Order: sequence, then structure tokens, then C-alpha cells
Amino acid sequence: MTKSRTINAQTELYGIIGKPVGHSLSPVMHNAAFEHLGMNAVYLAFETDDTDAASRAMRCLGIRGYSVTIPNKESIIRYLDEPDDTVIKIGACNTVRNRDGRLQGTNTDWIGAIKALERITSLAGKRAVVLGAGGSARAIIYGLIRSGVHVTVCNRTIEKAQRLSEEFGCTPLALEEAERLSGHILINTTSVGMGKLQDDSPLSKKGVENYDIVMDIVYAPLETKLLGYASSLGKKVVNGLEMLLLQATAQFEFWTGQPAPEQVMKKALEDAVRQSN
Ligand code: ATR
Repeated sequence: MTKSRTINAQTELYGIIGKPVGHSLSPVMHNAAFEHLGMNAVYLAFETDDTDAASRAMRCLGIRGYSVTIPNKESIIRYLDEPDDTVIKIGACNTVRNRDGRLQGTNTDWIGAIKALERITSLAGKRAVVLGAGGSARAIIYGLIRSGVHVTVCNRTIEKAQRLSEEFGCTPLALEEAERLSGHILINTTSVGMGKLQDDSPLSKKGVENYDIVMDIVYAPLETKLLGYASSLGKKVVNGLEMLLLQATAQFEFWTGQPAPEQVMKKALEDAVRQSN
């Protein structure tokens, strides 16, 4: 039997702001962590794209922390009192904490990706090919460059890859070019492989052959077509849940200052994914 939690006048409030947030997996992870550690805190999903109001609500109601998701990651920045270096460099904020009315922002998306990779490889001096040049790619490329990785970014819209490359110091190419590339690590940050594009892969099986590690940030389905190719070729694979989990554990630590119970959060995440399938 699950022990019921006491909600009282001291309960601390956390949440996610985004639109939509109905399918977010963040509430199950953070609430499992609070419960496990016996913390008097709850985490809710707030469906809004009004970052002005959401930041005022945070100060006014004393909400302790926000996860920030699409479409709010960029627009929240102007309401922060203290965006850290990662927010400024990446140009997106996925985590806010409220310290006595001052809103401090950070970005843990890059930490999730880098930690997931560091568990299976060292990074300095390695070569990575990143597919896609959107918001997720920005955070991951920031992390890769900071870790000493040489990055090639391939995107359908080449201009976006070029812009990103000028900023971060990587090499831009068109997405089709990725078929003939090679490297230690291949990372898909495009939406190819999810939703309507579930039966598609951003690269052919042949294109995957030239890498040791293949990572996909898509987590529904858990095994994308791209990761299916990689597994069948005996490559090491990193699925999107790993990055999701590790960006969440970094958020938890930023808010609470204590180590996140990773295994508890992982189990909650996996149970939720299993139930939604
Ligand atoms: P996110 O925040 O998840 O990165 P995004 O900023 O909308 O989302 O970026 C989506 C990425 O997926 C982009 O690189 C996009 O390519 P374009 O810049 O050319 O739009 C890529 N993408 C989306 N659909 C795609 C498709 N059908 N084929 C190839 N790339 C696609």
C-alpha cells in the first residue's frame, strides 16, 4: 500500500510550465523523488504559454521551482532575475528556481545528454555528428563542445546549421550529407522517428554503420527506427528516456541542493511510459 502524503500549510510547490503539458513525464519523476525523500513538496503540471504571468505567479505564490518546456524555454528568459551562463549561451532555459523572490534560471538539457553519453564513453577529442539544428540540438551541441567534442551538425535547413556552427564552432552540412559521414557518436535531435514520422529514420542503416554510439532524443517510441538499426548493427545505443531522466535529476538538485534519487525517478519514469503504451 502506498503511504499517503500530507499536504499542509508548509507544502512547497513545484511544477512544469508549457503548452501542452498533459503528457509530461516530469510530474511522476519529481513527485516520486519528493515522496521517497519524505519531502513536504508537490509538483504539478501548469498548462500555459504565458511566461510573464507564470513568472509573476511564481513570485506571488512562492512557487519554488519550475521546469520549463515548449514553447516557453526562450520566452521565460526575459523574466529571470539571474539567468546563468548556460541559459545565455544556449538561449533557452528549462529550469527556474525562486530564491526569496529572485528567479534564477539554468539549463539542464545539455547535462542530461552529456551525462548519458559519459556513462558509456569519454568525450574529449571524440567526433560527433548531430542531426538537427533546433532547440534541443543547441543544448546538446553546447554540451558537446564544452566537453571537447568535434561536432558536425547536419540539418534539412542548412542555414540553421550554419548559424549554429558560427555560434558554437562546429561544421555545418545538409542533412543528406550525413549518409556519408562517420564518427564516434551519432545523435538525432530531429523529430524524425516520432509521431507521424514514427516509421521513418533520419539515416539509412548503411549511414549508421560508421559510428560506435547512436543516441536519439526521441523517447516515444523508446526504440526508434534509427536505434533499431543501431542495435541490429551491434552499436551502443542511448535512448531518449536517459536524457529525460538525467535532465530531471539535475533539475531536482538545482532546486533542492540535495542528490536526486535517480533510481526512484527512473522507475517512476519507466512505469509511466509502460502504462502509456
Ligand atoms: P526541438 O526543440 O525539439 O529541437 P525544433 O527546434 O522545432 O525542436 O527543431 C526540430 C528539428 O527537427 C529541426 O532541425 C528540423 O529541421 P528544420 O530546421 O529543417 O526544420 C528537424 N526536422 C523536423 N522535421 C523534419 C523532417 N521531416 N525531416 C528532417 N528534419 C526535420
